Amino acid sequence: MQTAPETLYDSAYVQKLFNEMSATYGWVNLLSSFGFTWWWRRQCIRLAKLQHGARVGDFMSGQGETWHQIHKAIGAHGQIIGFDFSSGMVTLSAQNPMTRRGKVHISQQNALHTALANDSLDAVVAGFGLKTLSEHQMRSLAQEVRRVLKPGGTFSLVEISTPASKLLLWPYMFYLRYCIPIIGKLCLGNPDNYRFLAQYTQLFQNARRAQSAFQAAGLHTHYAELIFGCASAIYGYKE
Ligand SMILES: C[S@@+](CC[C@H](N)C(=O)[O-])C[C@H]1O[C@@H](n2cnc3c(N)ncnc32)[C@H](O)[C@@H]1O
Repeated sequence: MQTAPETLYDSAYVQKLFNEMSATYGWVNLLSSFGFTWWWRRQCIRLAKLQHGARVGDFMSGQGETWHQIHKAIGAHGQIIGFDFSSGMVTLSAQNPMTRRGKVHISQQNALHTALANDSLDAVVAGFGLKTLSEHQMRSLAQEVRRVLKPGGTFSLVEISTPASKLLLWPYMFYLRYCIPIIGKLCLGNPDNYRFLAQYTQLFQNARRAQSAFQAAGLHTHYAELIFGCASAIYGYKE
């Protein structure tokens, strides 16, 4: 069963989806990706070229899955601010060891319109938040990233994608469509929620449209394909 795109990209709908998934997201994500998402986040952080002492916005931060890696890159004098609009995800991110150690400030906000001041961040990173954005929302995100980055500030965003090779695409989509919902159910989640992952991924394809949106917003943008296109990333800087 397919859900209409106007519903899929409705913010209230996405918030509800992640509220429901929040209790099982961490385990399902780790187990179902065989650790690949950990590796892709690491690539994403590397591409952001974070400096020691940097002030970094983690947009669509979930439960803080990237924070340990960001912290390693920016050191004790750096600052991480996590933005997520799902109350379920934000509540659980308060239990993340990085939050408990006072290393992260979490804010429940829409990443497309944050309360951040202009030119206030050294970098913006985002792991796996692009696929639930419509093309219009990607353009809003790009404008927001441009607004909040300091001149010279960097960004890097990664998302799972559909590989171009048909040999890989078929088993990959089969896995997303049928196996991940089973893993979700085994982890006591609602398999219907995990079924949407395949639909979002199929509609998203890859980060090329996000790249166009970021370029149109005036940001210098590069594109990277990870593991034969099973994930893609955009990264770059504001002049
Ligand atoms: C797939 S999870 C990714 C979480 C985490 N970044 C990671 O690497 O696993 C996507 C997250 O983005 C959040 N999200 C989606 N759209 C958002 C928006 N417009 N503003 C804030 N958060 C958003 C969801 O609530 C969810 O927690």
